[in-house]
Amino acid sequence: MSELPVCWLRSVDLEVPDLAAAERFYTEAWKLRIVARAEGKLWLRATGDDHHVLALHQADAKALRAVTLRASSRAALDDIAAKAAAWGCTILFGPAPDPAPSGGICVVFREPQGTVLRIVHGDLRHEDGAEVENLPHRLSHVNVNAIDVNLSMEFYAKVLGMVKTDRSKLMGFVRCNADHHAIVLADAKSGGLNHIAFMLPDLESVMRGAGNLVDAGVPIAWGVGRHGPGNNVFAYFLDPFDVVVEYTSEVLQIDDSYVFRGPDEWNWAPGRTDHWGIAPPKPDRVKYAQISTPHGTWDGVSP
Ligand SMILES: [Fe+2]
Repeated sequence: MSELPVCWLRSVDLEVPDLAAAERFYTEAWKLRIVARAEGKLWLRATGDDHHVLALHQADAKALRAVTLRASSRAALDDIAAKAAAWGCTILFGPAPDPAPSGGICVVFREPQGTVLRIVHGDLRHEDGAEVENLPHRLSHVNVNAIDVNLSMEFYAKVLGMVKTDRSKLMGFVRCNADHHAIVLADAKSGGLNHIAFMLPDLESVMRGAGNLVDAGVPIAWGVGRHGPGNNVFAYFLDPFDVVVEYTSEVLQIDDSYVFRGPDEWNWAPGRTDHWGIAPPKPDRVKYAQISTPHGTWDGVSP
């Protein structure tokens, strides 16, 4: 399978109203580790080789600040920047050296549904990256709300060179490598963050990781279950600000032979919301949380 222009989902930047509470949750309960710190900012890594998978920024209210994807080459990054500008996106920064501690070259732009995307190349990686049982090792996918899911899928395909993999009634799935999806677009009345999913090594790790969260006083908010498109195992949680975060694993690995399926082909039997039939109906608090993290107003220039 040939490498796509964007080849990796690296990290998410979140704005949070209480950085200390966020640090406690994402280190003690969620099991990330701090790799860099600045006034009002924290960068956290998982066990894999990405410099960080989550950046936290003190702000007045919670918001999705940016989603960062890695380009497969500098030329691919420049091409994406040109295509984004041609699509009518506001280029906020670059291509230029990324001021974040992960370094490399980046371009930052706001896509038409409002998500700020940072495309990086040559960013720092950890030499000790590895999968460790029961711990998140990288991001799996980011689910962002979109007013027009089909148009968004078209944007991610045409501008970022991602591949559409499935379209259910409420969601569109696009990939940038063998993972079935890296970005999910969820049908909503306004843009914003739906949820962030972190990859664990296997099903057992999702279950034991969920148990560690329960021990830390963080109950499972939805799941455990196995999703339809992507076939991944999931357990959803709420962070201290009701940002929805997911532990997942066993995401379907696909190549160019994968056959796209549409809304009429993705249906659950009555009463089911997952393959196993054990996930209860999604609680209203989770549904609300999935539409309650708006886009931020980052200028794209500051780290
Ligand atoms: Fe998810």
